[in-house]
Amino acid sequence: MDDKSLMAAAQRARENSHSPYSHFRVGAALLSASGKVYTGCNIENAAFSATVCAERTAFFKAVSEGEREFAALAIVGGKEGETAKFCAPCGVCRQVIAEFCPPKFKVLLGDENDFKAYTLDTLLPFSFSSKDL
Ligand code: THU
Repeated sequence: MDDKSLMAAAQRARENSHSPYSHFRVGAALLSASGKVYTGCNIENAAFSATVCAERTAFFKAVSEGEREFAALAIVGGKEGETAKFCAPCGVCRQVIAEFCPPKFKVLLGDENDFKAYTLDTLLPFSFSSKDL
Protein backbone atom coordinates (compact mmCIF):
# COMPACT_ATOMS: atom_id res chain seq x y z
CA MET A 1 0.00 0.00 0.00
CA ASP A 2 1.32 3.47 -0.83
CA ASP A 3 1.74 6.30 1.67
CA LYS A 4 -1.23 8.31 0.41
CA SER A 5 -3.59 5.36 0.75
CA LEU A 6 -2.33 4.71 4.28
CA MET A 7 -2.97 8.36 5.17
CA ALA A 8 -6.47 8.04 3.68
CA ALA A 9 -7.09 5.00 5.90
CA ALA A 10 -6.00 7.02 8.96
CA GLN A 11 -8.30 9.84 7.93
CA ARG A 12 -11.24 7.42 7.67
CA ALA A 13 -10.40 5.87 11.05
CA ARG A 14 -10.50 9.36 12.55
CA GLU A 15 -14.24 9.43 11.83
CA ASN A 16 -14.69 6.81 14.58
CA SER A 17 -12.93 8.91 17.22
CA HIS A 18 -14.73 8.94 20.57
CA SER A 19 -13.57 12.29 21.92
CA PRO A 20 -16.44 14.03 23.74
CA TYR A 21 -14.07 15.62 26.28
CA SER A 22 -11.17 17.02 24.29
CA HIS A 23 -12.97 17.34 20.95
CA PHE A 24 -9.62 16.42 19.43
CA ARG A 25 -10.05 13.63 16.91
CA VAL A 26 -7.26 11.31 15.84
CA GLY A 27 -7.03 8.39 13.43
CA ALA A 28 -4.13 6.06 12.77
CA ALA A 29 -3.40 3.39 10.19
CA LEU A 30 -0.67 0.86 10.76
CA LEU A 31 0.70 -1.19 7.87
CA SER A 32 2.10 -4.56 8.89
CA ALA A 33 5.01 -6.20 7.12
CA SER A 34 2.53 -8.80 5.86
CA GLY A 35 0.59 -6.03 4.09
CA LYS A 36 -2.43 -5.79 6.39
CA VAL A 37 -3.70 -2.44 7.64
CA TYR A 38 -4.82 -2.02 11.26
CA THR A 39 -6.64 1.21 12.03
CA GLY A 40 -7.31 2.95 15.31
CA CYS A 41 -8.91 6.06 16.74
CA ASN A 42 -8.64 7.79 20.08
CA ILE A 43 -11.17 6.51 22.61
CA GLU A 44 -11.74 8.84 25.54
CA ASN A 45 -13.29 8.08 28.90
CA ALA A 46 -15.03 10.13 31.61
CA ALA A 47 -12.24 8.88 33.86
CA PHE A 48 -9.68 10.67 31.72
CA SER A 49 -6.72 8.38 32.43
CA ALA A 50 -8.60 5.50 30.80
CA THR A 51 -8.32 7.27 27.45
CA VAL A 52 -6.29 5.56 24.75
CA CYS A 53 -4.69 7.23 21.74
CA ALA A 54 -5.38 6.28 18.13
CA GLU A 55 -1.86 4.96 17.57
CA ARG A 56 -1.99 2.59 20.52
CA THR A 57 -5.44 1.36 19.50
CA ALA A 58 -3.96 0.42 16.10
CA PHE A 59 -0.84 -1.21 17.59
CA PHE A 60 -2.76 -3.18 20.20
CA LYS A 61 -5.24 -4.44 17.62
CA ALA A 62 -2.37 -5.59 15.39
CA VAL A 63 -0.24 -7.13 18.12
CA SER A 64 -3.23 -8.91 19.67
CA GLU A 65 -3.84 -10.50 16.28
CA GLY A 66 -0.29 -11.82 16.13
CA GLU A 67 1.48 -9.12 14.11
CA ARG A 68 5.01 -8.28 15.19
CA GLU A 69 6.59 -6.55 12.18
CA PHE A 70 5.44 -3.27 10.73
CA ALA A 71 6.17 -1.21 7.64
CA ALA A 72 4.64 2.22 8.35
CA LEU A 73 2.25 4.20 10.53
CA ALA A 74 0.03 7.07 9.35
CA ILE A 75 -1.49 9.55 11.82
CA VAL A 76 -4.17 12.16 11.11
CA GLY A 77 -5.54 14.38 13.85
CA GLY A 78 -6.89 17.75 14.77
CA LYS A 79 -9.65 19.64 16.52
CA GLU A 80 -13.22 18.54 15.83
CA GLY A 81 -14.79 20.36 12.92
CA GLU A 82 -11.48 21.47 11.49
CA THR A 83 -9.66 20.13 8.50
CA ALA A 84 -7.22 17.51 9.65
CA LYS A 85 -3.77 18.89 10.27
CA PHE A 86 -0.42 17.80 11.59
CA CYS A 87 -0.75 15.69 14.74
CA ALA A 88 2.45 14.40 16.32
CA PRO A 89 2.23 11.18 18.37
CA CYS A 90 2.38 11.61 22.14
CA GLY A 91 5.36 10.35 24.14
CA VAL A 92 3.61 7.21 25.36
CA CYS A 93 2.70 6.24 21.79
CA ARG A 94 6.27 6.88 20.64
CA GLN A 95 7.45 4.45 23.31
CA VAL A 96 4.91 1.83 22.16
CA ILE A 97 6.02 2.27 18.54
CA ALA A 98 9.65 1.79 19.67
CA GLU A 99 8.74 -1.50 21.36
CA PHE A 100 7.88 -3.04 17.99
CA CYS A 101 9.61 -0.98 15.31
CA PRO A 102 13.22 -0.25 14.32
CA PRO A 103 14.79 3.24 14.45
CA LYS A 104 14.19 3.87 10.74
CA PHE A 105 10.49 2.95 10.93
CA LYS A 106 8.39 5.33 8.82
CA VAL A 107 5.79 7.58 10.47
CA LEU A 108 3.58 9.69 8.19
CA LEU A 109 2.17 12.93 9.61
CA GLY A 110 -0.23 15.43 8.05
CA ASP A 111 -3.35 14.64 6.09
CA GLU A 112 -4.16 12.68 2.98
CA ASN A 113 -3.27 15.56 0.68
CA ASP A 114 -0.27 17.01 2.46
CA PHE A 115 1.95 14.81 4.57
CA LYS A 116 5.57 14.19 5.45
CA ALA A 117 7.49 11.06 6.37
CA TYR A 118 9.56 10.95 9.57
CA THR A 119 11.66 8.19 11.06
CA LEU A 120 11.03 6.90 14.55
CA ASP A 121 14.53 7.86 15.69
CA THR A 122 13.88 11.51 14.86
CA LEU A 123 10.64 11.38 16.89
CA LEU A 124 12.16 9.46 19.80
CA PRO A 125 15.93 9.90 20.08
CA PHE A 126 17.85 8.14 22.89
CA SER A 127 14.95 5.77 23.46
CA PHE A 128 14.79 3.25 26.26
CA SER A 129 14.27 -0.26 24.90
CA SER A 130 14.63 -3.95 25.66
CA LYS A 131 18.31 -3.56 24.78
CA ASP A 132 18.75 -1.55 27.96
CA LEU A 133 17.37 -4.27 30.21
N1 THU B 1 -4.31 11.74 21.04
C1 THU B 1 -4.11 10.69 20.19
O1 THU B 1 -5.01 9.88 19.92
N2 THU B 1 -2.87 10.54 19.67
C2 THU B 1 -1.82 11.37 19.94
O2 THU B 1 -0.70 11.03 19.61
C3 THU B 1 -2.07 12.64 20.61
C4 THU B 1 -3.29 12.66 21.44
C5 THU B 1 -5.66 11.89 21.62
C6 THU B 1 -5.75 11.57 23.08
C7 THU B 1 -6.94 12.39 23.51
O3 THU B 1 -8.10 11.64 23.25
C8 THU B 1 -6.91 13.59 22.57
O4 THU B 1 -6.09 13.23 21.49
C9 THU B 1 -6.40 14.88 23.21
O5 THU B 1 -5.18 14.68 23.84
